[in-house]
Amino acid sequence: MRISVIGVGYLGAVHAAAMADLGHTVVGVDVDEAKIAALSEGRAPFFEPGLPGVLASALGSGRLSFTTDFAAVAGAQVHFVAVGTPQSAGSDAADLRFVDAAFASLLEHVAPGEVIVGKSTVPVGTAGRLAELVEERVPGATLAWNPEFLREGFAVQDTVSPDRLVYGVPAGPRGERAVRVLDEVYASAVAAGTPVVVTDYATAELVKVAANAFLATKISFINAMAEIAEVTGADVTQLADAIGHDARIGRRFLNAGVGFGGGCLPKDIRAFSARARELGHGESVRFLDEVDKINLRRRERVVELVREEAGGLEGVRVAVLGLAFKPHSDDIRDSPALDIAVRLAEGGAVVTATDPEAVPNARRRAPQLVYADSAMEAARDADIVVLITEWPEFRSLDPRELGDRVKVRTVIDGRNTLDPHTWRTAGWTYHGLGR
Ligand code: UGA
Repeated sequence: MRISVIGVGYLGAVHAAAMADLGHTVVGVDVDEAKIAALSEGRAPFFEPGLPGVLASALGSGRLSFTTDFAAVAGAQVHFVAVGTPQSAGSDAADLRFVDAAFASLLEHVAPGEVIVGKSTVPVGTAGRLAELVEERVPGATLAWNPEFLREGFAVQDTVSPDRLVYGVPAGPRGERAVRVLDEVYASAVAAGTPVVVTDYATAELVKVAANAFLATKISFINAMAEIAEVTGADVTQLADAIGHDARIGRRFLNAGVGFGGGCLPKDIRAFSARARELGHGESVRFLDEVDKINLRRRERVVELVREEAGGLEGVRVAVLGLAFKPHSDDIRDSPALDIAVRLAEGGAVVTATDPEAVPNARRRAPQLVYADSAMEAARDADIVVLITEWPEFRSLDPRELGDRVKVRTVIDGRNTLDPHTWRTAGWTYHGLGR
């Protein structure tokens, strides 16, 4: 099929490359010239395992191209819109500027019979509004909403083999045709038995935010238990293992620690709350405000622990291990790690931070911190080591070797990922969160 992808940020770049790799002919369009130049040369503008390989093979096949010229979408049977919907400056609501601009430019080049597919995460009701716009501008073109559930770090795998596909389509023959077109786009996943949920626009939009809200709630639930564990002497990791054995609860996303960050979970729950308030039903999801607060409290807790352990922050040398919001990513958007590092520095600590991939991004955002190339280097003469992003290279650190580098053997394990016994045996004072 001939496909266009509007917006080649995280979601769009992976989608475009993966679709071309599956055999479709794809053009990716973006207003960001630097991004288009990098992708055209086969360079991924962000760290995502697997993407460079897929990008190289898709570009090599001649089926994938990138441009800033919207006219290049002409002739595609399907147009995916994958632009970002960040949090608005000054409010919790989603900023739909990029979505609106993408539709305005795209609709100049869409022809009747073609299908426009929204992938961006939008407040419920947006697709209905955009469908009216499509009908007005290009009668005979159809809008579908097809939310994306990919995880950073596993983006290629999640795009090619998703857990499920959700198609929000209008009722009637046009919707049926959109379903056939999407089934053709995702032919390999459909053939592999991926569940397909065909529904209306509002449900499709809500599935996405509900999924992220559930995941955020699960993480804040276990972090709330961690707060209680901390004052009772219980161990939240054992608690998570024990309740996780119940298949109805499940162990995944029950890792207590510094909580969730990134470009999705935090802004999505806030936008969901804001949208519910607009609909006059703020109380239905008011618990999400609490989920957000619990999450942010955990970051403060780490700062407090450092202060308690070191007897204040002024002049304390802190080695911060991890800057990305999670391992296998260089993404520092709303990263608990970077947030904690900055708060420690603001409190007067001398912070040396490291991360296998996120240092360049962090350096741009927080030039006031000192950056190191490795954990061993960051830990030199440290009064305290704080592990915040659980990269494999940090999890497998040898406590004896690291112990020789630091001034004081105190470690705060912000992800409960180290073995307390091993570290204590090596002479360290170990603090987890909620254990
Ligand atoms: C999340 C969702 O998992 C994806 O399904 C969704 O498509 C994506 O948002 C999106 O909306 O685009 P992602 O932001 O890549 O994906 O990250 P997650 O793997 O969900 O992790 C989010 C945060 O939660 C990370 O900071 C992670 O460290 C934290 N986390 C995760 C915990 O604190 N505890 C856990 O048990 C699991």
